[in-house]
Amino acid sequence: MKMVHLNQILLFTFCLIISNSCQTKKEKIPGIQPSPAPIDNDQKLEWFREAKFGMFIHWGPYSQLAGEWNGKQMKSPAEWIMNRLQIPVDDYRELAHKLNPVEFNAHDWVRLARDAGMKYIVITAKHHDGFAMYHSKVSEYNIFDWTSYKRDPLKELSVACAEEGIKFCVYYSHREDWDHPGAYGNNWEYDNEWGDSFYDKEKFEKYLEEKAKPQLRELLTDYGPIGLVWFDRGMFTFEQGMDFVNLVHGIQPATLVNSRVGNYNQELIGDYQSTSDNGMPPGGLKEYWESPQTLNETWGFDKSDTLWKSPETVIRNLISIVSRGGNYLLNIGPKGTGEIPGATLEIFSKVGPWVARNAESIYGTTANPFGELPWGYCTVKGNKLYLFVREWPQNGELAIPRVHNAVTSAYLLLDKTKLPVKQVAKQTLISLPSKQADNPMTVLVLELDGSPKVDPPVVSQDQNGSAELNYLKVITHGKSMTRFNRKGGFHISKWTGPDDSAEWVLHVDKPGTFQMVIDYAANKNSEGKPYEIKVGSSTFKTFVLYTGDWFEYHKFPVGYIEHLEPGDYTVNIRPKESGDSYLMWLRSITLIPVKTIKKEGWGVN
Ligand code: GLC
Repeated sequence: MKMVHLNQILLFTFCLIISNSCQTKKEKIPGIQPSPAPIDNDQKLEWFREAKFGMFIHWGPYSQLAGEWNGKQMKSPAEWIMNRLQIPVDDYRELAHKLNPVEFNAHDWVRLARDAGMKYIVITAKHHDGFAMYHSKVSEYNIFDWTSYKRDPLKELSVACAEEGIKFCVYYSHREDWDHPGAYGNNWEYDNEWGDSFYDKEKFEKYLEEKAKPQLRELLTDYGPIGLVWFDRGMFTFEQGMDFVNLVHGIQPATLVNSRVGNYNQELIGDYQSTSDNGMPPGGLKEYWESPQTLNETWGFDKSDTLWKSPETVIRNLISIVSRGGNYLLNIGPKGTGEIPGATLEIFSKVGPWVARNAESIYGTTANPFGELPWGYCTVKGNKLYLFVREWPQNGELAIPRVHNAVTSAYLLLDKTKLPVKQVAKQTLISLPSKQADNPMTVLVLELDGSPKVDPPVVSQDQNGSAELNYLKVITHGKSMTRFNRKGGFHISKWTGPDDSAEWVLHVDKPGTFQMVIDYAANKNSEGKPYEIKVGSSTFKTFVLYTGDWFEYHKFPVGYIEHLEPGDYTVNIRPKESGDSYLMWLRSITLIPVKTIKKEGWGVN
């Protein structure tokens, strides 16, 4: 293999722009004490990584309307009805006044979650409509003071959660509030639907100080330990987002904060990543993540939305998320009366038993180490691989890619029936019974003589001989991380020094000469940082060029690799020097087959 190295590449014409007062309550909640002293990030995430499955609850005055107001129907999501039908604030306040959820029973709700296998609930303490579903002292616009109900459902839920061993968590819409004249979102009465950089800062920050922050302080002070605060719809500035992170951690250091706390266009903040709604990353995310998903098409109750997911789909979604290393936050939309729709109960009653039978393969596991598997999914715990067979093999034999450990046994998780297993060349082969043992998916256990050592996923060339090395099959070392952000998409980042690298195994079966192109985003802080890329025994040394912002990706040619022979190569990229800021936000390194090498105009070493 011969290498032509291009340093100092400034041919921007080549570049492709790809993307363009807190008051505390006297009464104590039995069994709940405020969180103890500061803990580190890993400890903080421990319960969340173990939990895997949570219940989202969207419930508020909008639940009474069920998608219709004054004879007018709206399109999903039903919790947006005030905004979509431009309901005047006074009319909506009148509607909120009538909220009387006589059917609400905190224990029933928490048991529904528990019996479905869920380990935490996240309930809308205040959604975008601005109405607090708990007894707030900050604003009388809350379920206790504003209605005849005179109960605090969140207090009742926090008590029931503590009794049932479920983590109690709250959703709080911090930027959006259609009731408050200073908040974002109401464009029909307050003209407050601002652009990202153009907004009335003074008016907005007054809202934050007089409503959003004091209400959050109440929630974090009066409701016992809060597992996590689920913010939504982002923030304007980084500082405003960080204020909320610090507010939460200042009162309850162990409480997690989701990534929607900050501006979606800026560097990610918060303790874990929320994907987009119903988002399913194809895999490969290292920074811990959670996918919020609907059970039908709406979040808040909508009487006309009957597009319920089947229990089989819910189970498959759970497995697919867990096998990709994330959490599944599945939503329910109770009615205004507090009744939970029959279809929801029915689906949950079928999901729960499967999860209970296969609990060992879900909770506390880590992601599939093989990358995608043609026949199903995999999770890992200790010395065990859990194999979820989506497509029962015709020949009765399940092929698992190379596992370097010795297999001590293979069996069905359901009843521990032993299965014949052999390790042949690069594969482990398990003989399966003729029929699926469980529905909708059977789980097999492969017990090994130690923690699993498997071949890393291999990047292969496509039909034309190109190979794209991206976040999906990367092995990250040190602080390097595969991340997701609404604006920046999937990328590799968080690397600040030579110990933080990204690595791939590249399989070459179509030899030849290749041009190497790197696709990344870099802001001013990353400009000029030196880095190197190694392909097998060849090293390319270059430095980072400014692309505009951390989510503005550009493609840059790095150099040519001549006569790359068939075989497996390790490709590694790392910063050459230590610093405070990230090297870059890397999307991919691509090898493109070329017939000739264009040397003119390039700084060739
Ligand atoms: C979207 C919706 C919001 C809902 C949220 C849940 O942001 O606008 O109503 O609460 O998704 O993820």
